[in-house]
Amino acid sequence: MIFSIKKVDVFSQQTDVLVAPVFKNESLLSSDLRVLDRLLEGKLSELFDEKTLTGKDNEVVVIHGFGELKAKRLLLVGLGERSALTCEKLRKAAGEIVRRAKGAKAKKVVWLWDIGTLDAADTTQAVAEGAVMGGYTFDCYKTKPEKNEKPTKIKEIVLAVPDSEHISAMESAVITGLVIGESVNIARDLANMPPNDLTPSAFVDLAKKYLDGQKSIMIDVIDKKKAKALGMHAFLGVGQGTVEPCYMLAVSYHPMKNKKPIGLVGKGVTFDTGGISIKPSKGMEEMKGDMSGAAAVLGTVIALSKLKVQTNVLAVMPLSENMPSGSAQRPGDIVAAMNGKTIEITNTDAEGRLILADALCYAVTKGCSQLVDIATLTGACLVALGDQAAAILGSDQGMIDTFLKVGERTGERLWQLPLYEEYFDYIKSDSADMVNSSENRLAGTAVGAIFLKQFVGDTPWVHLDIASMMHYSKVSGYTVKGMSGVGVRTLVGYCRQQSGL
Ligand code: BES
Ligand code: MN
Ligand code: ZN
Repeated sequence: MIFSIKKVDVFSQQTDVLVAPVFKNESLLSSDLRVLDRLLEGKLSELFDEKTLTGKDNEVVVIHGFGELKAKRLLLVGLGERSALTCEKLRKAAGEIVRRAKGAKAKKVVWLWDIGTLDAADTTQAVAEGAVMGGYTFDCYKTKPEKNEKPTKIKEIVLAVPDSEHISAMESAVITGLVIGESVNIARDLANMPPNDLTPSAFVDLAKKYLDGQKSIMIDVIDKKKAKALGMHAFLGVGQGTVEPCYMLAVSYHPMKNKKPIGLVGKGVTFDTGGISIKPSKGMEEMKGDMSGAAAVLGTVIALSKLKVQTNVLAVMPLSENMPSGSAQRPGDIVAAMNGKTIEITNTDAEGRLILADALCYAVTKGCSQLVDIATLTGACLVALGDQAAAILGSDQGMIDTFLKVGERTGERLWQLPLYEEYFDYIKSDSADMVNSSENRLAGTAVGAIFLKQFVGDTPWVHLDIASMMHYSKVSGYTVKGMSGVGVRTLVGYCRQQSGL
């Protein structure tokens, strides 16, 4: 998809789709809409009068070209009150527009660019992200295309600006937005892939493929033998019940000399049956997405390297299946993590925190200046927040505050939950340093986090529980049904912010 920013007389342009934003309570105030109304022989005034067109959020009215309009279709997109316009609204609108345009088999879209006082670069980036994410499909396993649905690709989206002042800033923002959107889609692909194909070793191979040729990248694949030598028994215990070998994948992106990296740690359970503490079968197929944290971390490194962001990152992805079998971990087993702390397994379904424990320890030994982990860790996160926000907890309020701001900007909602030290009382063990799962069901998300805190030492640390946002249940804006690829935008945003962007 090519995005271009042009100052052109749009009304003379041949295009498949012309997009005109409509703001609430403005009716025909904007000069573009007045011109359009004239070309369409008063059709817009009519639609306003009969309240078919109001400009409210998410409203889309399609008019097939007639009168003197050169476009085949006019898409009138409601954006709400002009004073309440946000990047996120534009991101959503872009996704919607791309899907509508694809549905109409359009090749070219011209968008009358009218964003009021918002920042030209921020809005352009958001729109590029939304367009790429909204056009996402996962249909590579279908042998026949859906009925009447020949795959179409939009070749060009033109943002038609009123003056040329911001064009160069917008052009570089387009590149940022496209790369971030594509990286989200890579994370979605990984999470949507069936678990028989996306095994830990397949994840490693794909990571190598995606990062092939990128500068400042080093890939270290820690196999079982090396993990054993490093003392990663919490990680190895989870992988002992499956025939699929597990790997601790460490990718370093190191563009800056003499600077400590930010450690990004992502949970990579390629399928979570629960193990011996097996899950109910209803909906278990969703657990193919239990590697969404690792996918987000990989997507982030891909984006950072493509955008040449000047922040060092060490991405650590513990990759394993969690299966029941004769060799599987038992409730009652005690394992030691890399930092020597011992864990009594009371529930083999609380496996994410076990593999993350060793991944965090590993990142600490590599000298990370700060740690961020991201994981589909607890069902309790869904109970607390529904599918509207991911949970954030951690040891460093400064980092958390930065994340909350970045999340707001990138359109990935985060909500802070408390991390009281007293929660550790819930995971005290009679025989080891801690258990992996509390007896009660209280504050499940915070209990997961207080467990992880035992493995970060003094390094400032933030934990993102994305179980609530793992998948989208409906198509809307830039979301499409299936795994969400959530986290990439926030992590890239955070790393760019740390580099001073
Ligand atoms: N992968 C699950 C959490 C999850 C649930 C992710 C729903 C996405 C959607 C995790 O490994 C798990 O099973 N957690 C347990 C923890 C409990 C045993 C302490 C849970 O939430 O029930
Ligand atoms: Mn589990
Ligand atoms: Zn899990």
